[in-house]
Amino acid sequence: MILKRVLLFIAPFFLISCGSDNSELTELDRELKNIIETLGLSPLEKKEVSDAKFKLGQALFFDKIVSGNKDIACATCHHPRFGTGDCLQLSIGTKGIDLCTDREKAEGREFAPRNSPDIFTKGLNQWHTMFWDGRIEEKNGKIITPAGDQTPEGLESVLAAQSIFPPTSRTEMRGNTGDFASDGSINEIAQIPDGNFTEIWNAIMNRILSIDEYVEMFKQAYPGKTEFTIVDFANAIAAFETEAFMFTNTPWDEYLKGNTDALTEEAKKGALLFYGKAGCYKCHSGNLFTDQKYHNLAVPQFGPGKAEDGLDYGRFHVTGNPEDKYKFRTPHLRNLMVTAPYFHNGAYDSLEKVIKHHINPEESLRNYNPYENGLSEELIRTLKNDEETIQDILSTVDVDVPQLTDEEIDYLIAFLMSLTSPELYNEDRIDRIVPSRVPSGLPVDRVD
Ligand code: HEC
Ligand code: HEC
Repeated sequence: MILKRVLLFIAPFFLISCGSDNSELTELDRELKNIIETLGLSPLEKKEVSDAKFKLGQALFFDKIVSGNKDIACATCHHPRFGTGDCLQLSIGTKGIDLCTDREKAEGREFAPRNSPDIFTKGLNQWHTMFWDGRIEEKNGKIITPAGDQTPEGLESVLAAQSIFPPTSRTEMRGNTGDFASDGSINEIAQIPDGNFTEIWNAIMNRILSIDEYVEMFKQAYPGKTEFTIVDFANAIAAFETEAFMFTNTPWDEYLKGNTDALTEEAKKGALLFYGKAGCYKCHSGNLFTDQKYHNLAVPQFGPGKAEDGLDYGRFHVTGNPEDKYKFRTPHLRNLMVTAPYFHNGAYDSLEKVIKHHINPEESLRNYNPYENGLSEELIRTLKNDEETIQDILSTVDVDVPQLTDEEIDYLIAFLMSLTSPELYNEDRIDRIVPSRVPSGLPVDRVD
């Protein structure tokens, strides 16, 4: 009885306040519509791949036979359950055990120097760079890779080209000379000298094609072909990644399709900031949310690094141009809610910290607290925060985001949240990407 009266009493206020909200929404929508039209933003289109190629690529992506020691698959570091990453700041490669934050490095092995990036949307043709430093890129229709002249012909995309490199990295998948594989056999792939890419790829294909089930799957995927090379391996893995890891049905994509209810008011305000005053769109540009160019945000340095001195100079390692020091490729921003930690080395564990770092890079670099961002003791010992390194990092910084209030940062986060597909929270849906077995019979990384 009392409840009813209360409802009768507050109902008119509700109507009035909803009414005024609505008119404000329309104003926001109108402003956003302008921006969307000016910048030519549109939802991403799916790319079709064949079923047989998908199945082959799926098997290869989850099969540890691809690694020298038969103990690590692509999926170990790019697991669908962990946002196609590995939850870690820096990846842990061969001889490591377990997954996600439980993953442990073996005695005497190194961390990979960088954070495992997500693979969402990376099969789309708009992507013409791979890796944090873009060391794989498509230029004038030609794919350039660290293998130089040994790069094989026929790679269908930069994503395909990328897939033939993790198995050549000793830390990630290949292992060290003298290593024994998980089944006790000698790791024959690790015995090949570094830089002999072609020989390594042939050795991997020998292993794979010694399994009849794989030969059959390759024949299905490439009708009419009888001989298969690392290029067929690469194109199949890319087909799988393309199809399995789209997840572009985000509230933002719905909004772009014309559903104005898909975004909350906060997210709309965030979008206006992103494409306006905050200037995020200058680097996180276009439908992919990246210019695929390189910038130095003064992210703190830790881990083994890429150079003799233990630092990671980013794009500089590719071009040798001093202006490129500490510059890393702008990451895209889709499905961020499942891909923490952030930045090229996973330095921060929250979007709030990431945005605040963009606003005040120097202050954030100087006051970086590794404990607050979940770094292990071992990684903390590698933090390079001496004045000389800090000065060197600051010398090429090229980010200029204006001061923003806490409220504005909250709006930006609301917008970033709208770039994540709700499907990613459905574990049954995600687990369907993981095969129940692989042709080698080696164990598949599953999460229960
Ligand atoms: C030990 C963990 C590990 C394994 C195993 C691994 N990766 Fe990665 N992957 C990484 C890291 C770390 C990077 C970033 C390296 C860099 O940028 O220098 C990366 C980068 C990538 C990228 C580039 C994404 C982008 O945005 O540029 C793709 C795609 C990818 N890996 C797919 C694969 C595939 C396919 C396999 C198996 C053949 C594989 N990875 C095996 C850790 C791993
Ligand atoms: C000058 C270009 C530039 C501008 C402007 C910029 N960013 Fe970034 N952003 C980057 C680069 C480059 C990185 C990666 C830096 C690294 O890892 O060393 C990054 C990383 C990020 C990440 C982490 C993503 C991940 O997967 O690790 C988020 C989130 C992000 N930016 C959001 C924003 C927002 C929000 C704005 C606007 C307030 C913004 N950025 C403005 C270049 C830019």
